[in-house]
Parts: sequence; C-alpha cells; structure tokens
Amino acid sequence: MGSMKTTLVAAALLLCLLAGVSVVRAEDPYLFFEWTVTYGTISPVGVPVQAILINGQFPGPKINCTSNNNIVVNVFNKLDEPFLLTWYGIQQRKNSWQDGTLGTMCPIQPGTNYTFKFQVKDQIGSYYYFPTTGLQRASGGIGGLQVHSRLLIPVPFDAPADEYFVIAGDWYNKGHKSIQKQLDTGRSLGRPDGIQINGKSGKVGGSNEPMFNMEAGKIYRYRVCNVGMKTSLNFRIQGHSLKLVEMEGSHTVQNVYDSLDVHIGQCFSVLVEANQEPNDYYMVFSSRFTKQPLTSVAVIRYANGKNSPSSELPAPPPETATGIAWSINQFRSFRWNLTASAARPNPQGSYHYGKINITRTIKLVNSRNNVDGKLRYAINGVSHVEPTTPLKLVEYYGIQDKVFKYDIIKDEPEAASESNEKIVLAPNVLNATFRNFVEIILENHEKTIQTWHLDGYSFFAVAIEPGRWTPEKRKNYNLVDAVSRHNIQVYPGSWAAIMTTLDNAGMWNMRSEMWERAYLGQQFYFSVLSPARSLRDEYNLPEKTPVCGLVKDLPEPPPYSNSGIF
Ligand SMILES: *[C@@H]1O[C@H](CO)[C@@H](O)[C@H](O)[C@H]1NC(C)=O
Ligand SMILES: *[C@@H]1O[C@H](CO)[C@@H](O)[C@H](O)[C@H]1NC(C)=O
Ligand SMILES: *[C@@H]1O[C@H](CO)[C@@H](O)[C@H](O)[C@H]1NC(C)=O
Ligand SMILES: *[C@@H]1O[C@H](CO)[C@@H](O)[C@H](O)[C@H]1NC(C)=O
Ligand SMILES: *[C@@H]1O[C@H](CO)[C@@H](O)[C@H](O)[C@H]1NC(C)=O
Repeated sequence: MGSMKTTLVAAALLLCLLAGVSVVRAEDPYLFFEWTVTYGTISPVGVPVQAILINGQFPGPKINCTSNNNIVVNVFNKLDEPFLLTWYGIQQRKNSWQDGTLGTMCPIQPGTNYTFKFQVKDQIGSYYYFPTTGLQRASGGIGGLQVHSRLLIPVPFDAPADEYFVIAGDWYNKGHKSIQKQLDTGRSLGRPDGIQINGKSGKVGGSNEPMFNMEAGKIYRYRVCNVGMKTSLNFRIQGHSLKLVEMEGSHTVQNVYDSLDVHIGQCFSVLVEANQEPNDYYMVFSSRFTKQPLTSVAVIRYANGKNSPSSELPAPPPETATGIAWSINQFRSFRWNLTASAARPNPQGSYHYGKINITRTIKLVNSRNNVDGKLRYAINGVSHVEPTTPLKLVEYYGIQDKVFKYDIIKDEPEAASESNEKIVLAPNVLNATFRNFVEIILENHEKTIQTWHLDGYSFFAVAIEPGRWTPEKRKNYNLVDAVSRHNIQVYPGSWAAIMTTLDNAGMWNMRSEMWERAYLGQQFYFSVLSPARSLRDEYNLPEKTPVCGLVKDLPEPPPYSNSGIF
C-alpha cells in the first residue's frame, strides 16, 4: 500500500518535472495575485510626495498565505524605470531564480510584466516584500507577507481576535530618484524627514482617526516590521505590554516587554491584550541612536471608547551607551521556543546547531571611505559592483570568468581593510561549499549601528557583544536556543555571530540591510553550487524567464538532471 502510494506520488512528481513545472508541487494550493506598479501621490509624513504604489496602495497589498502555498504574482511595471521585488526573508528553497535580487534576476522593464512563482514552506511568520532596484525602496513598493500555519502544525498561542500588519520605517520626502542622484554623485543619504506607520504619520494631539481597533477583553496580534532605510526604531503601546511570540519566522519564548527595538529589516509579532479602560491609545515608534530624535504615533481605538489618547507617551528606552547595553540585553532575552511547532523540520535540517562542527569561519568587517571622491561602503575592503548581467545567470551559462572572480575577499579581513585604508570596487562573490556549516562574524568598527541580512537562509543569531571578536568568545555563544532568523543588528564598536548550514543551492545575497550601504557596495553573494547539478538540489532556470545582458543570445545550458531526485 505504502510503497504503491509512494510510486504514484513519484510518478506525479516526475510528470510535473517533465512538464517543466518542477518549481511547485502540484498538490499544494495556489494563490494568484495581479499587481500593477505605478507612481502616485501620498503623504506618509505630512508632505505630498511621489511614491511607488502597488495596485494604488502604500503599503502594497498584503500576501496572506499558509505554509506550502504556491504564490503566483504577475507584476506589471508601469514605472518609467526597471523594477524588481524581493520576497524578503522567504527562503526560496532551490530557487534563487525567484529571489528578486539584481544578482539573480533581470529587472522587469518598464511597460512589461513578469510572473513570480514560488512556494512558501513552513516559515510560519511575518515578512515583507520591497523593490531591490536602485533606491526605489525609499519611495515605497513595500507590503507585508504573512505565512500562517497549516492546521496540522499547532501554533504556541490561541488564535487572536484579529491581527494587524504594521509596516513602519523612516521616510524621505525627496523621493528615490533624487536620493539615487545624491548617492551616485558621491554624497550620503542624510537624515530622514519622519517615520511612517502604514503610510501615515501621526502627532500627539493630532488627528484621532484610528488605525487599529480592539475590543476590551480580547487579544490581538500585531506584526511589526521596520522597512526603513537606516533608522532603528523603538516600538511601544501606551498602557499595554507586548508579548513577543514570533520573530522572522520562528516562534519565540513568550517574554513580555514594555517596548521592543526593531532594527532595519527586522520583523516580529506581539500579542496585545486589550485589558485597559476603553479609550484611545497611541502606538509609538521613535528613532534609536540618532542625533535628531523622530517620533510618530498611530491611534488604537477600543470599541465604545470614551477618551482621546493621553498626550503622555510611554518613555523611550535610554539612548547612547546605556541605550546600547539596554538593547543588547533585550537581544539576549530573545529565545527560540524549542518545543513550539516541533513537527516542523528545521529548515537547516538540524535542531542541534550547537553540536555541529564549524567547517568555515568568515569574519566580515564593514567600512566606509571615499573612492575617487565618492562615498562607498565595503566589506573586508571590497565594495560590490552589480554587473549588468545577473551573477547567477552568468554562472549558469558558464561565462562567469568574463564577469567576476570568486573569493576576492578573504575569510579573515586584511589589516589594511580592517583599518579602513583601502576599498576596491568589484563584483563580490564567495565560493561556498554546499552544506558547509559556517560561522559568520560581523564586526563593526564604525560609530553607527549596522544590520545584516542573508537571503535564502535563516541563521542562528548566537551572540552580540561589545568589543572585538576572538575565538575564545565562542564560549559565550547561545548554542541551545538562539532564534533562527534572517537579520541581525551589530552595534557600534561591537560584533555579532551567526551560524547556518549552506544547504540551499543558489546565488544568495548577503548585505547590509541599510539600503544606502547596500546600494553603495556593502553586500556580496554566496555562490552555493550543488556539485551534482541535480534537480534534487536546485531547480532549473524557470521557463520564460527573461534573460538579459551577456547571456541574452546564448543557447540555454543543459538542464540539471533528475538523477537522485527520488
Ligand atoms: C489569512 O489570514 C487569516 C487570519 O488572519 C487566516 O485565517 C486565513 O487562513 C489566511 N488565509 C490564507 C490563504 O492563508
Ligand atoms: C504577462 O501578463 C500576461 C497577462 O496576464 C500573461 O499571460 C503573461 O504570462 C505575463 N508575462 C510574464 C512574462 O509573466
Ligand atoms: C513553547 O511552545 C509550547 C508548545 O506550543 C507552549 O506550550 C509553551 O508555552 C511555549 N513556551 C514558552 C516559554 O513560550
Ligand atoms: C567534531 O570535531 C571533533 C573534534 O575535532 C571530533 O572529535 C568530532 O568527531 C566531530 N564531530 C562530528 C559530528 O563531525
Ligand atoms: C569552489 O570551492 C570548491 C571546494 O570547496 C572547489 O572545488 C571549487 O573549485 C571552487 N570553485 C572556484 C571557482 O573557485
């Protein structure tokens, strides 16, 4: 019986493969979306500006899906420039083809459309999408993506009465084109004009239009993401505590906080119990570690509420040196709930990451300097330059020698780059060995906070400490219940350590999530090649994928084989 069923499934899979739809499993449900990307005028921080809208909205439409759903998004680019979206934090297993970074895909040309097809797995949690082309992210094109649990997989809390997605971040009124011009001519991004919360910005004593509604006695889930360009935020709600339940796709130990720091590119979910007098309350976002503090509020209204919100906002956490210690302590309090969703195989294939031998240690030091009079950001002395033909395509077509060299940065930065003396401009690609268990040390010698993100994987965020890293610091790692996530902050004069198994074949971007830095070179790609060239490890270039640049007229390389797939 059992083997008969297996054979049938295998046959069905084989048919799918032969039909060229190997990207998705036939039996899982499909969700279809049709999105039109346009310019439009909105006022996220009180001043009308031209922004990038999706189906006329900012934030763009939310993708609400369930684990194993197949997501099909047909994106029509009605802008006057190329456009590309990334599904930030979603691990595209075997499928960097759909990752939406400039190193993996040709952007969608103006007046054309492209259909993304990908499958979400058991990364139950909160994500978002955003444009990776140029500085477009500064003008919008961003929206939430939430992955619910299948019924089979229990979630470690009762279903909330309702749930809200909160897309917040610093905002610049000058628009992405002028920011891009500013950076291209060598100047830096400068200070933001305000903080937007779901496309709006409230002031204490300002408009009382509620953004969120609660009923006394019920519990609500707020999914909060910092989608900004560079400003860390602190999130809090007047009179209410925040029970942390999820962070970038992992269920956490459910600690209760008065406020939570959310750094660039980070997301979490909190449960909020409506246990106060039925009135209006402010949700507050305030900037962290900035010279000029910014604050923005949104109104949460109780049903049958009587009073406007109090003008007294809950105090922010300390700033400066004590503020950093406060924030590091908060990071250390985040723990993975090891018993939640135990049915779920860990995407890295191991629950016991602390027992795996490290096969490679890569230390990355961020730096900034002028090159030919223009500001550049670098990693170990190399500032990434994006070739016009995506790295993944030149590698797949076997012409990478014409475009880039592997491993131009070393696993241990050279003294000259550590002391920030030289910066070289080049495509930055590391040759990663398939299935290596790597430790990455991020050391920040600058005076500003950094955040880092890796596409295609989640990693265990095992330590953050002030000072410099040495191998002896490994004894301070959390090797038991560090949260498996895809973004980590590194404080000024501090380091962070992350660990992951490079078991997802593809071309995967690791970058500063602060977009000015990424745009000006603070990023690289891990080329993770499956030696077998087998469909078990990586999908073929999806059919009808537009190719561009040097590979446009080349014959397609022989496809990966099915050998070993069953
Ligand atoms: C959308 O979200 C709701 C909860 O807000 C959930 O009950 C529903 O199943 C979701 N839909 C899909 C397709 O996952
Ligand atoms: C563009 O949209 C049309 C109409 O929906 C669709 O048939 C076509 O496949 C899309 N093209 C791409 C490249 O996705
Ligand atoms: C972890 O998840 C389990 C299983 O859902 C739940 O019973 C438990 O309360 C959670 N533990 C903590 C500390 O949050
Ligand atoms: C890890 O390394 C230690 C020491 O080198 C060795 O004894 C052990 O067998 C290794 N474990 C695995 C699982 O490879
Ligand atoms: C990448 O590393 C592997 C060993 O891990 C090696 O066999 C291969 O030749 C390297 N490729 C390049 C292009 O350096």
